[in-house]
Amino acid sequence: MSAWLMYLFFSVFFVLSATALFFFALTRGTLLVRGALGQLEHEAAHVYPLYSNMRLIRLVDFQPIIAAILLFQYDRLVSAITHGLKHMDLRGKKVLITSCAFGNVIPRVVTAAVESGARRVLIADIIKNELTHAESKLPQFAGKLELLQENATAMKQADGSVDANVIFFLLHELPHELKGVALKEAARVLAPGGKLYLAEFHRPDLWVLRALSWTYFKVFEPLGLALWDSHDPLKQIEAMGGFTCERRTVFFGNFQVLVATKNGAA
Ligand SMILES: C[S@@+](CC[C@H](N)C(=O)[O-])C[C@H]1O[C@@H](n2cnc3c(N)ncnc32)[C@H](O)[C@@H]1O
Repeated sequence: MSAWLMYLFFSVFFVLSATALFFFALTRGTLLVRGALGQLEHEAAHVYPLYSNMRLIRLVDFQPIIAAILLFQYDRLVSAITHGLKHMDLRGKKVLITSCAFGNVIPRVVTAAVESGARRVLIADIIKNELTHAESKLPQFAGKLELLQENATAMKQADGSVDANVIFFLLHELPHELKGVALKEAARVLAPGGKLYLAEFHRPDLWVLRALSWTYFKVFEPLGLALWDSHDPLKQIEAMGGFTCERRTVFFGNFQVLVATKNGAA
């Protein structure tokens, strides 16, 4: 192998390793340290520093990075949600986004909701910096927004108070016992006829992808694997009753968009 090829190989290896180490330290690594120090009691203890430290939020929140993390399916997943919202009659109604996420999902969801007539869009997150960061992406919607520092597992919203609720890749980060609680809260705040849009990871159909995905979850996000079976959100919502669900999987089954419509008059 020529010298420059070796140089290229080691440079790529170094960049990939440094990136993996960076993300590990700011996600699972921190949770392991918190666990070792007995600091997992606080309600936001499961939240990675990547989502709580403003400098880190600004450093990482670039569309190409975020798209790459979701294997370049980000746009497709967001489109599945905005397509649904655009086909709803939300005139005079409220839409809730339960937890912030990087990239353009929040501006796109807010735009779709407002274009469908939504009177207000509520954005709830347990971390204030995430809300401040999300707000900075939405200057044109100032009068329509409500930013709420709230826990998805204990929402302050009244029963049946919103007509659509969007949850984008939150469940895989919640401790197992809270996944179902967050879904119950999402269901509770939804009005009859309202829709819950949930984007998440899903058990891949291809064994190669399944092996890679399994390794990723084991190393970086061990709380996500349960979505493949024991904490499948579709099964959890169906078990609650009162919902009609549709699930669409994308990218060889690696991701899912679930639309759960609450039974009753719209
Ligand atoms: C939705 S997930 C991340 C999604 C995805 N990995 C991304 O950004 O592309 C991260 C967000 O969920 C929020 N979050 C975590 N636990 C929460 C909870 N119990 N209630 C509300 N928000 C929560 C975090 O503060 C953070 O803003």
